[in-house]
Amino acid sequence: MTDTDLIDEAVAILARGGLVAFPTETVYGLGADAQNPVAVRRIFAVKGRPAQHPLIVHVASAAELPRWVTDVPPAAVELARRFWPGPLTLVLHRSPRIPLEVTGGLETVALRVPAHPVAQELLRRFGGAIAAPSANRFGSVSPTTAQHVRDDLGDAVDMVLDGGPCDVGVESTIVDLSGPEPALLRPGGIAREALQHALGVPLRQPSAPSVRAPGQHPLHYAPRAQVILVEPPRIVAEALRLEQAGRHVGVLLPPGVTLPENFGGVALPVPLSLELYAHELYSLLRDFDRRNCDVIVAALPPEEGLGAAIADRLRRAAGPRRRGARSRP
Ligand code: TXA
Ligand code: MG
Repeated sequence: MTDTDLIDEAVAILARGGLVAFPTETVYGLGADAQNPVAVRRIFAVKGRPAQHPLIVHVASAAELPRWVTDVPPAAVELARRFWPGPLTLVLHRSPRIPLEVTGGLETVALRVPAHPVAQELLRRFGGAIAAPSANRFGSVSPTTAQHVRDDLGDAVDMVLDGGPCDVGVESTIVDLSGPEPALLRPGGIAREALQHALGVPLRQPSAPSVRAPGQHPLHYAPRAQVILVEPPRIVAEALRLEQAGRHVGVLLPPGVTLPENFGGVALPVPLSLELYAHELYSLLRDFDRRNCDVIVAALPPEEGLGAAIADRLRRAAGPRRRGARSRP
């Protein structure tokens, strides 16, 4: 089958209320027709995601904004002009065309124009809006390859479009433009610095943390292994201490740091630039799981540019553990 045949098949599946996992430049999405509440409810069921946790709606271009939101403020026009298609999501006031199932009951909707050519083609041919969270089980690490999606969701999706590994590797940056001042809800593929430069004003942090604010949920972005964050100079000592305590230790090893030869765990090098690090982050975390590490020792990167998104995901991965997970010895 040619690629266009596959995309036509995906469009047909979406049109009859099915679920299609598709590549974006950030992570793979689990897509359904955003205007079909039954299909949207299936996304929540397949992911095991709480129904009040809103989804991102993907559209083909910024020209579609007026179709899906009640008003398009100048800041949205400017950010869309500069950063779409791309890893930026804008929260705006929902048009009644977006069902409340998508927004978890909120009067706002999160919209994004993805840059991946397969996502673009899918959206253009479908002609509507595609609601899609990351295509993983709720709380686990987002998928950056089609294989990750198959590993996580198996037969629960009707089709997986394979567009190769995702370029950016971490989710989109989410900016809330529905209030009086723009707020950064989630750091991601577009740096805060670039957004502030475009807007000419600083981005507010979200006021009260709630599970509705993206990624605020403690179960987000976690591998199976426990993640322990330490200052870079303590990485080796902490890895050895945990190994001595009987743990199967994974280490995200920064450049220039070496472990003693008798270290029996799994050391994976931190990629050399923030771009590469973001690109590899979720694959690295999955690798530690695949090799049965029960704990991962890591340090945070500098929090500038993409480093803010990487640090955010590592912190959440190190956050409160799921029920049944091991606690620190
Ligand atoms: O890069 C991405 O954004 C990927 C790809 C597939 O586009 N999608 C993604 O979706 O990361 P998901 O569902 O894993 O995360 C979406 C986040 C959620 O944490 C949710 O709370 C937030 O977006 N969100 C959605 N609608 C919102 C709204 N109306 N107000 C505030 N936050 C919202
Ligand atoms: Mg997600």
